[in-house]
Amino acid sequence: MTLPPHPGVPPGMATLADYEAAARAHLEPEIWRHIQEGSGAERSLAENRASFARWGFLPRALADLRGGSTELSLFGRRHAAPLLLAPMAYQRLAHPEGELAVVRAATALETGMVVSTLASVTIEEIAAAGRDAAAALDRPVPPLWFQLYLQPDRQDSLALVRRAEAAGYEAIVLTVDAAIKPAGLTLPAEVDAVNLAGMRRIRQTATPGTSGIILGTALADAAPRWADLEWLRSETRLPVLLKGMLLGEDAARAVDLGADGLIVSNHGGRVLDGLPSALDMLDAVSAATGGRVPLLMDGGVRTGSDVVKALALGASAVLVGRPQMHALAVAGMAGVAHAIHMLRTELEATMAQLGCARLDAIGPDRLWRFEQHA
Ligand code: FNR
Repeated sequence: MTLPPHPGVPPGMATLADYEAAARAHLEPEIWRHIQEGSGAERSLAENRASFARWGFLPRALADLRGGSTELSLFGRRHAAPLLLAPMAYQRLAHPEGELAVVRAATALETGMVVSTLASVTIEEIAAAGRDAAAALDRPVPPLWFQLYLQPDRQDSLALVRRAEAAGYEAIVLTVDAAIKPAGLTLPAEVDAVNLAGMRRIRQTATPGTSGIILGTALADAAPRWADLEWLRSETRLPVLLKGMLLGEDAARAVDLGADGLIVSNHGGRVLDGLPSALDMLDAVSAATGGRVPLLMDGGVRTGSDVVKALALGASAVLVGRPQMHALAVAGMAGVAHAIHMLRTELEATMAQLGCARLDAIGPDRLWRFEQHA
């Protein structure tokens, strides 16, 4: 089944790649670069896509597809599909409605949204917009998770967690891979990290008397440590996920310390160039954690068949990052809703063609690796 194009979506948008190509004309060059870029020589950024391209499919003939569905439950909550919106800072860079447009689209498509600490709208307003959209569309309130960047002062981090709890967020996602990243973009005057108003921010300035430029500065000294996970776990009853895990050993330690879920990620190739893709590390993380917690992944997911590949390699669900900004820039809420809808349509088509009526039928036996057959 395909729905007619959403109002406001320009003609010719048939894939997420179409939105990416169209978005460039809607964004200032500096903002476009900021969204697209990876770190260093962008090797990790390229791997995020290349690792999906290394896998193909092995369909089963004549499978019974009756009663099929892409539904799943995460932390006791129904998700229409194994697809969530990754935390993205400053969504008003792409569209004046920013996160409000995204949460309305997420509600319409019953899709989970992870809201960034660096959102450009307050987390309370985002939650309220989701509730209003749910009432107007007669849909359930969307699953909203709050992504936490630990703040230099612990009471500020805790204040953010308490606000998220009070506003109805259902999980905390602690990002652990991006603490030591010097700020790049100079924000336009109308876009700001409004949720951090009044909080102490650390700039990357050397501490007098040390020779360090990064190490030995307050920036590196404030980077999250294992003890912070234990602290956070003890402070909230919400599920706590760690985002930015790549190694099995770290993943197992996180679960031992009480993490309720993990997001395998190299941060969209934006932090340390040379990291492997999340897709390539999934198998090892999955083996190390042995199904004790849900594993999610992100990085390079652009089609429904990518979602199937990630699930076959051990993910319970995937997150999508940059495409949100592309679709927002081109067509606001309608664009984001349309992009999610296309991914879900492609996911269902791929599952049907593989003979998988349900998510639990997707396993490694449905994949083959192109290189091995070259
Ligand atoms: C990000 N990402 C990110 N992650 C996070 O935990 N908090 C954040 O505020 C942001 N902000 C952000 C902004 C922009 C412009 C980008 C491109 C990325 C990382 C993001 O959540 C996700 O890990 C990657 O974007 C996933 O890769 P894809 O889907 O963009 O390939």
